[in-house]
Amino acid sequence: MDAAAKSMPAAAWRADFPALDQSVHGQPLVYLDSAASAQQPAAVIDAVASYQQTDHANVHRGVHTLSHRATEAYEGARDKIVEFINASTRNEIVLTSGTTESINLVAQSFCRPRLQPGDKILITHLEHHANIVPWQLVCEQTGAELVVAPITDSGEVDLDALLELIDEKVFLIGMAHVSNALGTVCPIEAVIERARQRDIPVLIDGAQGVPHLDIDVRALDCDFYAFSGHKMFGPTGTGVLYGKEALLETMPPWQGGGDMILEVSFDKTIYNELPYKFEAGTPNISGVIGLGAAIDYLQGIGMRDIARYEHDLHDYMVAELRKVDGIRLIGEARIAASVQSFQLDDIHSHDLGTILDHQGVAIRTGHHCAMPVMQHFGISGTSRASLALYNNRDDVDRLIAALGKAKEIFQ
Ligand SMILES: Cc1ncc(COP(=O)(O)O)c(C=O)c1O
Repeated sequence: MDAAAKSMPAAAWRADFPALDQSVHGQPLVYLDSAASAQQPAAVIDAVASYQQTDHANVHRGVHTLSHRATEAYEGARDKIVEFINASTRNEIVLTSGTTESINLVAQSFCRPRLQPGDKILITHLEHHANIVPWQLVCEQTGAELVVAPITDSGEVDLDALLELIDEKVFLIGMAHVSNALGTVCPIEAVIERARQRDIPVLIDGAQGVPHLDIDVRALDCDFYAFSGHKMFGPTGTGVLYGKEALLETMPPWQGGGDMILEVSFDKTIYNELPYKFEAGTPNISGVIGLGAAIDYLQGIGMRDIARYEHDLHDYMVAELRKVDGIRLIGEARIAASVQSFQLDDIHSHDLGTILDHQGVAIRTGHHCAMPVMQHFGISGTSRASLALYNNRDDVDRLIAALGKAKEIFQ
């Protein structure tokens, strides 16, 4: 493929995203912050608007037409998620507000009732705070211990060290599929395989995996897989906890309220069936419908094509960044997706982010909710460019030019 051909599909996909068609500080927007939150295609915006305009009502309880329509669209989105990640049944798809809530659900409902003092939760050093703090909370509550597998200076999980840490005290392993700070694609298959041999459940934080990779939870054979709608071109406040049905069956509800019950009296409450026993209260109906539209959009293109395109673009971005005088790449994993963190000379990342913004280039700066990663590299933060299917080589070239400008300003 030549350079022009490589940017062709993205040109078509890019046109689907209205927010990208604007100027910032007088410059055409280059959006390189999709790891924080991705833009939404018109199909998602329209699906939410159409629901709001004609179908809005509460789900599950109504006998009237609008409630039926809302329920159908909301539950239809759950069916799409089942197919998208190849779950076995809709009972395995718990709708949450995002990855954070999904992980907290597992910590509080699966782990808290069972953890004993001295048990271990094993995570890695490159986790997002959402895959650290819920485990710290449940460890405090139960006397269990949080154990952290190290990473290497290239930003990869030290797999041998992690496997060494798996002993009979490990109750659950939680790890990212893709690091949001470093872009590292983690060796989850090898970890799951070892965990299977010892019957240890594994939770995968898939927040940065789902938007970029073709996910098949049955092929992975993970026990839980958590992800967020807004990172995969859907609305904020939506997310998914996939859990194996046999495990979810054994778990108590973690929040009480409407919709998660079959029968309530002051003596006893009978909880609803899966997945509703984990979905207390009125859900984010419009958001979930938008998430369903995002899945339609992604499947319309095909996750394998997206992954292939993004992989090529990521290689290009990393190669171009390497050519910049004074750049220090943070995270140089052999297998990476979408993200590249870096520092430029001794320019503070916030200053760099501001200068780039004035040239229309949106990147993320700071610790990226992964302070332990920053501690590993002895830094307080990085600048992070993250790609999505709507980016192209021109965006990368604009990033590089903007970095050149920043160097001129700081000379
Ligand atoms: C790897 C990873 N895990 C978890 C989260 C938390 O996602 P949310 O804030 O949507 O719950 C993020 C968000 O940046 C992330 O990148």
